[in-house]
Amino acid sequence: MTFEHELEQKHHRAEEILKRYGVFKDVSYQKTVMEAMEYSLFAGGKRLRPILLSETFQMFHGQGNVDEPFMAAMEMIHTYSLVHDDLPAMDNDEYRRGKKTTHAVYGEDMAILTGDALLNRAFETAGLAFDMAEDASLRNVTRAMQILSEKAGIYGMVGGQVFDVEAENKAVPLTEEQLLFIYRLKTSALIEASLMIGATLAGAKEESVSLLETVGRNVGIAFQIRDDILDVTSTQEVLGKPIGSDERNHKTTFVTLKGLAGAEADVKAYTAKAQEALANLPCESAFLKRLIDSLTDRIK
Ligand code: IPE
Ligand code: IPE
Ligand code: MG
Ligand code: MG
Ligand code: MG
Repeated sequence: MTFEHELEQKHHRAEEILKRYGVFKDVSYQKTVMEAMEYSLFAGGKRLRPILLSETFQMFHGQGNVDEPFMAAMEMIHTYSLVHDDLPAMDNDEYRRGKKTTHAVYGEDMAILTGDALLNRAFETAGLAFDMAEDASLRNVTRAMQILSEKAGIYGMVGGQVFDVEAENKAVPLTEEQLLFIYRLKTSALIEASLMIGATLAGAKEESVSLLETVGRNVGIAFQIRDDILDVTSTQEVLGKPIGSDERNHKTTFVTLKGLAGAEADVKAYTAKAQEALANLPCESAFLKRLIDSLTDRIK
């Protein structure tokens, strides 16, 4: 099977799992928020984080399907982060995943509530894993919940978004060290969590989980630098979201700091660091190795 075919199959599986937990049947007066949640979740998206999560679960010979609620939970948290990121008070963007953003369709009030609801639904969904796990692996589910909550919060994605918005419109650009702090939290944290949770649920040792955190950190930084590049070089048709968003918001990015060629070199350098950590793990996944490399020249 080619890499592209395998990726397509894994994307399809992630989509099916997300449908299981992110489509709502019991609808009443709160139906608008449910519609908006489904609109945001099923607007497209690469499903990178759930794919990474299930890949490390398989790599460490995880048994059963306890990874599935966590795959859905991870994509819900990621989607909530995008819904809030696009709000007028934040990046103020009108398109996402090739469609109008949630606030553009449902209004700002509903977009705030949609983000809140997705975050809650994520933990409700991940919690289902406690009922699916064998007694002997309940500790793994507890640990996975801890990783998920830490990496989504102030020491993770939310923390990075805080400094990202505070740093806009500053007379002096951020230093590379400050920018790396933002990227490690706003983008790497959820990628680290995905890789770590899959392995944790499969019962991997702490040293391996910690190596996967290093893999995720470097993949995330490379991923965000590539996102900065695409914000300058792509088109809305291909990217599915507006280009020029960073310039409009007066953000320091790797492109403003180092130029396009410098940023491209950094994508390669951080990817190489990720591959180095990956090679030190006790098990291998040719797919994961290839997937990480494929992100360096992704076009969306
Ligand atoms: C977008 O993430 C936000 C960043 C961290 C740059 P993705 O590029 O993974 O977005 P989707 O899920 O495929 O839409
Ligand atoms: C990543 O940064 C945002 C999140 C972690 C939610 P961006 O603001 O650059 O992401 P895009 O470009 O809007 O997807
Ligand atoms: Mg942003
Ligand atoms: Mg944005
Ligand atoms: Mg961006």
